[in-house]
Amino acid sequence: MFQDAMQQSGRAPLTLEEAARRFRHLGEETGALRVSLQATERERQAALERANVQATLGRDLRQEMDGLRSSLTSEIHDARDKLAWAMKTVEAQVLASRASLDGLVRSIAQPQGSIGGQAATLYLDLLELSLTGVLSDDVSIDPWTAGTYDPGRRAIGRDWPATACTMIGTARMRNLRHLLERALAEDVPGDFIETGVWRGGACIYARGILAAHGDATRRVFVADSFRGLPEPDAEAFPADVGDQHSTYQQLAINQEQVAENFRRYGLLDERVVFLEGWFKDTLPTAPIERLAVLRLDGDMYESTIQALDALYDKVSPGGYVIVDDYILGPCARAIEDFRAARGITASLEPVDGAAVWWQVPR
Ligand SMILES: C[S@@+](CC[C@H](N)C(=O)[O-])C[C@H]1O[C@@H](n2cnc3c(N)ncnc32)[C@H](O)[C@@H]1O
Repeated sequence: MFQDAMQQSGRAPLTLEEAARRFRHLGEETGALRVSLQATERERQAALERANVQATLGRDLRQEMDGLRSSLTSEIHDARDKLAWAMKTVEAQVLASRASLDGLVRSIAQPQGSIGGQAATLYLDLLELSLTGVLSDDVSIDPWTAGTYDPGRRAIGRDWPATACTMIGTARMRNLRHLLERALAEDVPGDFIETGVWRGGACIYARGILAAHGDATRRVFVADSFRGLPEPDAEAFPADVGDQHSTYQQLAINQEQVAENFRRYGLLDERVVFLEGWFKDTLPTAPIERLAVLRLDGDMYESTIQALDALYDKVSPGGYVIVDDYILGPCARAIEDFRAARGITASLEPVDGAAVWWQVPR
């Protein structure tokens, strides 16, 4: 039958040996196929195991990362708490320094034998709190700290208040009060002048101090361009080259506004004298005979030297010269040049790291 089939397919009939050989060959191929299937199966198992191991590793890794994340989060919280605590400590230290500065300036302002009763002291304390903007936490408008109120800065006049009448701060106001009260107590003849008044706060304070102590004759001279600082004159005053003060519109306050500020405090009267214009034009011919206190606050070399040239000889023996801007290089240079030219050796007394003063020898 097998041979019949082969004949029908048109092929030569297989011999028995050939059929047996092919059968054996088929068996061998099947065996090889089985072996390769088993190998494939082993590989599949191995791959499965590897996948399981990787899944386990991934889980472990994820758990480790979760652990890390939560420990990192708690470390960040700790650090934040520590930082907040440190900031509170610094804040407390600033407040403490301010309190001690207040104590210091108070003790300076009320030396033994200080004149005026408790009512005068309370009035002047309140006037000072209001004029500096400390009473109202008045925020700043200077380009460096704009929009903030920092009591530490205000105590030493390192910002420009938004609405308060002076930018010189508590310590320099106390120094002004101390020296004017000393001049009154020691009968040093003469008036008060500030050259560079801005909104007038220091002059308003001076007028209040005279009123509080019952002075009936001394005048307060209020000298300013009432339109800001001059542009630097490089040829005449090389120390002012590059000075930017003239570019700040915040420093230009008109005279009507300053007079209005005096009026609001009830301190505008005929003993307040305005000298409007550039110092070089107004000061040499100002109707001033004698000064008890000369306060310089014009920031620049030009403004400082012109005020000294015009007014220093009018300061009475025993009177005082206050230099608000000694912290500024051009102003300090003007002071040094002037003192050297005049042979002035009276010691420069510090106020708050910015201003200095000296007493004219008797
Ligand atoms: C820093 S502010 C004075 C601050 C003021 N003493 C206070 O209590 O806040 C400087 C003032 O000086 C004035 N000033 C500066 N140089 C001047 C000059 N050469 N002539 C006239 N005014 C001048 C400016 O107009 C400005 O009002």
